[in-house]
Amino acid sequence: MKKIRAAVFASGAGSNFQAIMENDLLCEVALLVCDKPGARVLEKAEKFGVPTFVFDSKEYASKSDYEKELVHRLQQADISWIFLAGYMRIAGPTLLNAYENKIINIHPSLLPEFPGKDAIGQAFKAGVSTTGVTVHYIDDGIDTGPVIAQESIEVFSDDTAETLKERIQQVEHRLYPVVINRLMK
Ligand code: GRF
Repeated sequence: MKKIRAAVFASGAGSNFQAIMENDLLCEVALLVCDKPGARVLEKAEKFGVPTFVFDSKEYASKSDYEKELVHRLQQADISWIFLAGYMRIAGPTLLNAYENKIINIHPSLLPEFPGKDAIGQAFKAGVSTTGVTVHYIDDGIDTGPVIAQESIEVFSDDTAETLKERIQQVEHRLYPVVINRLMK
């Protein structure tokens, strides 16, 4: 049977992209979308032989313009699911309407706590004893869509922001592929 085709959107180091690629997925990652020319995730895509679409938002007049191009590329590649993994842009109606309930994101906190940038730093500074990881559907807000799965992580008294980040990323790398496979069934 033909596998569902998915795209990963990532613009950073790509450790979640790598974790997704190294797992036995029920879908095929057929495209990597990246909005940061030169991002480290692009080397990883090359290593795994995943085609990429890289764009610079500054070259488009508006969000709806670059999202029209994105939707066109996604449809051309027969993509039916999108997994965000460090894509730092808020989706607009063009993308959301084309992929309704088919776009998920992973975020390094127990949402609704600590949405937005540097969630790990925010949690660390706030001095919480527990934080975690959330996988959720996206909507037009910042990390506000319906939660699909969460896992808690204890913050130890001797943690630094870096050691906490390491443990959070270990959980992300295990959780995201599991949740993806659950959704593909
Ligand atoms: C991850 O922590 C993810 O939760 C957040 O962005 C980070 C991406 O890291 N949305 P990487 O590029 O996958 O290493």
